[in-house]
Amino acid sequence: PIADRVADLLHRMTLREKVGQMDQEALVTVQGTCNWSGGALNDACLHSVLVDNAAGSILSGGGMPPAVNTAKDWADMTNAIQRYAITNSRLHIPILYGIDAVHGHNNVLGATMFPQQIGMGSTWDPALETSVEQSTQRAVAATGINWAFGPVTEIARDQRWGRYYEAFSEDPLLTGTMAASAVKGLQDGSSGSKVAASVKHFAGYSQPLNGHDRVPADYSPRYLQDTILPAYKQAIGAGALSVMADSGAVNGVPVTSSHYLLTDVLRGKYHFDGVVVSDWSDVRNLQTAYHIAADYPEAIAKAVNAGVDMAMEPTNATDFTNSALAAVQRGLISHQRIDQAVSRILTMKFRLGLFEHPYVDSSKADGIVNGADLPLARQAATESSVLLRNQNNVLPFGSGVHKIVVTGANADNIDNQMGGWTIGWQGVPSGTNVGGTTVLAGLREEAPAGTSIDYQADSGAAVSDLKGADAAVVVVGDTPGAEGPNDHPDPELAPDQQAEVAALQATGKPVVVVVVADRPLVLGSAANTAGLLMAWLPGTEGGHAVADILYGKANPSGRLSVSWPKAIGNEPEFYTQLPGTNGGTDSGYSPLFAFGAGLSYTAWQIGAPTPDRTSVGTHGSLTVSVPVANNGSMAGDEVVPLYVSQPVSQVLTPAKWLVGFTRVHLDAGAHTTVRITVPLSLLAHTEGDVNGDGGQVVEPGGYTLLAGDATTGTSFTVN
Ligand code: IFM
Repeated sequence: PIADRVADLLHRMTLREKVGQMDQEALVTVQGTCNWSGGALNDACLHSVLVDNAAGSILSGGGMPPAVNTAKDWADMTNAIQRYAITNSRLHIPILYGIDAVHGHNNVLGATMFPQQIGMGSTWDPALETSVEQSTQRAVAATGINWAFGPVTEIARDQRWGRYYEAFSEDPLLTGTMAASAVKGLQDGSSGSKVAASVKHFAGYSQPLNGHDRVPADYSPRYLQDTILPAYKQAIGAGALSVMADSGAVNGVPVTSSHYLLTDVLRGKYHFDGVVVSDWSDVRNLQTAYHIAADYPEAIAKAVNAGVDMAMEPTNATDFTNSALAAVQRGLISHQRIDQAVSRILTMKFRLGLFEHPYVDSSKADGIVNGADLPLARQAATESSVLLRNQNNVLPFGSGVHKIVVTGANADNIDNQMGGWTIGWQGVPSGTNVGGTTVLAGLREEAPAGTSIDYQADSGAAVSDLKGADAAVVVVGDTPGAEGPNDHPDPELAPDQQAEVAALQATGKPVVVVVVADRPLVLGSAANTAGLLMAWLPGTEGGHAVADILYGKANPSGRLSVSWPKAIGNEPEFYTQLPGTNGGTDSGYSPLFAFGAGLSYTAWQIGAPTPDRTSVGTHGSLTVSVPVANNGSMAGDEVVPLYVSQPVSQVLTPAKWLVGFTRVHLDAGAHTTVRITVPLSLLAHTEGDVNGDGGQVVEPGGYTLLAGDATTGTSFTVN
């Protein structure tokens, strides 16, 4: 058994070897001059990091891929590092190799990039998310990587936050369901080698007070328990082998030093038995940024005692090892806690099978990674795209549309379809090539016979051209990025892009706006066009997906996983806002497009929900049947959301909240009844006074089930 093998190793390890296992170093510390110079692996650097300091892990983090040209080269390099560790370390312990593969493997290899998580959230398709992550698993495993830092399990409610696009949704259940599906897909071992997920960034990272990444967040106890934590519980329940700690501070406590979050909740309540890794330099940050430790040993002690098992302290293995040793010698960390952390790390290595199969067959890597799963990426990009306006059925373009003018800042910009962590930290570094199909290329390739595409990069030329054309497609958006630099204090569509849309509209010709962006941008007048399609950051196959929808080869089926605000002053805007005294029951929730919005080319009818019983206890689950009909003339998929509302409650509850959903495919004219299981625990709210001291309780009383957009539904009682 793994426990015996771990105990045996632990028994033979020196203290130095133990604290070394707890360190994760950046790849650049074993390359070139061991000091961020990059280049080839360097034996002296490898020796210092992997033997002298016995580091347990290497990461290609921060979007810093090695300088390799092929997947085979990457696999050869990973094998070489692994071989070095196993051959030269005294106890022959393999390393964990981590990477940010958040929407496919790093594209330095030409890997297929899937939509970013915000787009995947809008598919409401957990099975598809699992398939996408299985593909990512195959690609990263092929290059010898055994640890992927994702999924992001945060709640997207503040468009100003730079990492908004990395979250699935504003809704806890949709987020948790997609994150759990991602964990299953990444970790199911279907690639033949196992990969560990790292659910991140536990917990409360997504709503920094002023919208700037890593600025402290303040949550009420109720918000933390009912909104932030449940999605993590789901993802951890799916068997995640690791969790990454939130880099920020919550309620005045840096999460890296929060015993409450990293131990009491994670271990005590969620029974997580994997590895907690800190985020980049965050252990050091306890000293240098947060000033809650006088020196590095004290910072390490605070993090480790709170529950951090492995420190992503990527810059200096010797410094980490010596400081961790000093912390133990000073009595700041017990030997027992070190043994516990190291046991978890070794257990993860055994669970991944690294002691038995540490190397990959690099000759297979190119075949697995290059151009992999393009049909899956096209499906994901198609399902994630949300049609929000379709006046007079301007879409799909019919046979009367012979000439389409294509224009707009993101019409022919593949980099802007990708987003953060694609190749580099912020996405696609300038001068780097990333493969894929732009919207322009997709529209050209897929144009039906008899339809011509006229591309005008210049907006003035596009306006003149449109006068003699049948329709315009204007692809607007922004330039995506990642942490920090991608914060958007003013997430609005740029004024020149708004003006371009207005000028095109002034021609009187139908204008279809396609938004390629990492968040719902405040659109201003650009919202009032005949057609509006949100494509998010759709990745490699985005152009084909948009073309499929615009030409009617695919029936749009994405539904917003977040609310789309009219004005930034309405932020944070989310559908579960609690009632106030001046806005009615929904506190004036009045977005441009609501959570769940999305049009189809067919006519869907979602009927009233019927629970299997109208009187239930507080435990177990309820099965709810919902009739769905496709009354239109095109086959398609519909998302069926099921909400609950509580007319009278002891603490404030929103007008409705999601308790289940499914996605159904129906041919034209077909109908069915879907069944959705609702765990009654989803009715619980944190009770008590403003300190949330009542715990999470399912209140007895009346509830109403609502399906789709309905505002009236079916009652049931909890006894
Ligand atoms: O995994 C990331 C994390 O999301 C943000 N900081 C850096 C880590 C490693 O690259």
